[in-house]
Amino acid sequence: MVSPCHLPPFTPTPILINVCGSNISLSISLAQYYLFPGSGKAPANSISQDEEEENSSPNFQNMTVYGLQEENWSQSALTICIVGASGDLAKKKIFPALFALYYEGMLPPLFSIHGYARSKMSDEEFRETIAYTLSCRIPNTPEAAKDCDAKMDTFLSKCFYTAGQYDSEEDFTKLDARMKDIEQSLPCADRLFYLSIPPNIFTAVAENASKAASSSCGWTRMIVEKPFGRDTESFRQLTNDLYQHLREDQIYRIDHYLGKELIENLSVLRFANLVFEPLWSRQYIRNVQVIFSENFGTEGRGGYFDQYGIIRDVIQNHLLQILALFAMEQPASLDAEDIRDEKVKVLKNMKVVTLDDVVLGQYRSRTTKGSTLPGYLDDSTVPPNSLCPTFAACAVFIQNARWDGVPFLLKAGKALASRCAEIRVQFRHVPGNLYRNKLGVDLDKATNELVIRIQPNEAIYLKINNKVPGLGLRVDTTRLDLSYKTRYTSESLPDAYERLILDAINGDRRLFIRNDELEVAWEKFTPVLKEIEQRGVQPELYPYGSRGPVGAHYLAAKYGVRWGDQADDEGNE
Ligand code: BG6
Repeated sequence: MVSPCHLPPFTPTPILINVCGSNISLSISLAQYYLFPGSGKAPANSISQDEEEENSSPNFQNMTVYGLQEENWSQSALTICIVGASGDLAKKKIFPALFALYYEGMLPPLFSIHGYARSKMSDEEFRETIAYTLSCRIPNTPEAAKDCDAKMDTFLSKCFYTAGQYDSEEDFTKLDARMKDIEQSLPCADRLFYLSIPPNIFTAVAENASKAASSSCGWTRMIVEKPFGRDTESFRQLTNDLYQHLREDQIYRIDHYLGKELIENLSVLRFANLVFEPLWSRQYIRNVQVIFSENFGTEGRGGYFDQYGIIRDVIQNHLLQILALFAMEQPASLDAEDIRDEKVKVLKNMKVVTLDDVVLGQYRSRTTKGSTLPGYLDDSTVPPNSLCPTFAACAVFIQNARWDGVPFLLKAGKALASRCAEIRVQFRHVPGNLYRNKLGVDLDKATNELVIRIQPNEAIYLKINNKVPGLGLRVDTTRLDLSYKTRYTSESLPDAYERLILDAINGDRRLFIRNDELEVAWEKFTPVLKEIEQRGVQPELYPYGSRGPVGAHYLAAKYGVRWGDQADDEGNE
């Protein structure tokens, strides 16, 4: 079964360039960002385990909007359990996402939400702790506020809490009893567990939840948060341990970057527009950059972060997943397995990352305007003299016919100048360019560049050379610009967690990571991660709030590349 939120209405969207009041417009197809629960065939949670595999092809004809088949929902019920309910992720992302789904009418009417963690709390106290994290995407009117309050109250009344140990089957049996108590008035309830807990207790929870708290009549699924191991060996161990208690089709390995709107749109942009796909190869593309930066440090998460570092935290998963989607061949269909097969092929074709193609950095404190921004080592939860990288850039290569020789540069850093995530595609020079004398001395700056800005201010823009209007012939670089804020004024972007939780309810695994994908991802990074640790490679220090270590520029220059984000900052378009 496929979640129709991936079967978007493809609307041709004009991107406009305004030159002195005249518009140049290019229509492209994009995914629209509505969430559609359930296809016309079946409601979100009505799939039996056997049906699940068979019904995985998308069916555009059957696509319907929620509400039209609402009666189907009443055939089954849904129990969601957040294990690790008192943690940060649960409060900041999971409960707000669940409420947003409820608010938008995406959850079946018969649902209940259970929090499970070690701290003792009553249902009331639990409700209080999550209430303040909830918000409605509503117009600013008294009626809307009233409706929002009423929906919050109803949502909270369906939230329950059980305290227990993660390694205690007995405590999970109590959880099961609690769930049954609430489910008893309902028809068969499916159960979705969200494991928002450290990886060292994944297996214990999977074992206890599956033994003592599985659905007795419907499906049981578990969403698992990263990190899935620290290297190939620990990943395999974790997988084998989980497989003792769960089947692969019950495990939903989440990478929330795959739930972001612009990442969802990446395949639509490529495969539903004639203009991009023919250019998508070594023949026209000089390099591809996938860039992630945050303008804050590890604040409060240093203890966790120091165990992993930025390569494991962001590059090996979020950025690599983006790269795989970007570089894959057109899948046979929109079926989850077809898409994931293509992603695996890209990763298999990737050269193993080596230390000479990696630059590491760590932020240090910086005093500016009388206040001091703390360095990574100033975090009390970080061991003194830690060499953990908070910044890394690496060059990777995909050795296949489409991408041979094209550098893919991945860069991620904390405590940098701005918060941004984007993909930059720099195209080759125009051969025998008639206007080369008008393009300035640095022709590299005048090549086309496609920018897909994932966040903030979601946008897709294409840098083009254009005649400056007027007498004479002056050419400058400007943008064909699709800014989501101006194009889609009435829609709000769902949070990545909303989309992904809804997909897990729908049994759609397309945006979740398959075991073999992750295994290859680890194989490509494990050797260099080990070498970094064994050699005790010193990260280059960079000041908090800066653009990161200079080494990243040398790495890019080695492949004749200039980082696009920094050229844009300088206004060199
Ligand atoms: C998480 C990382 O996976 O993604 C964090 O562990 C990072 O270190 C976060 O801050 C970034 O997510 P987003 O959605 O805020 O860009």
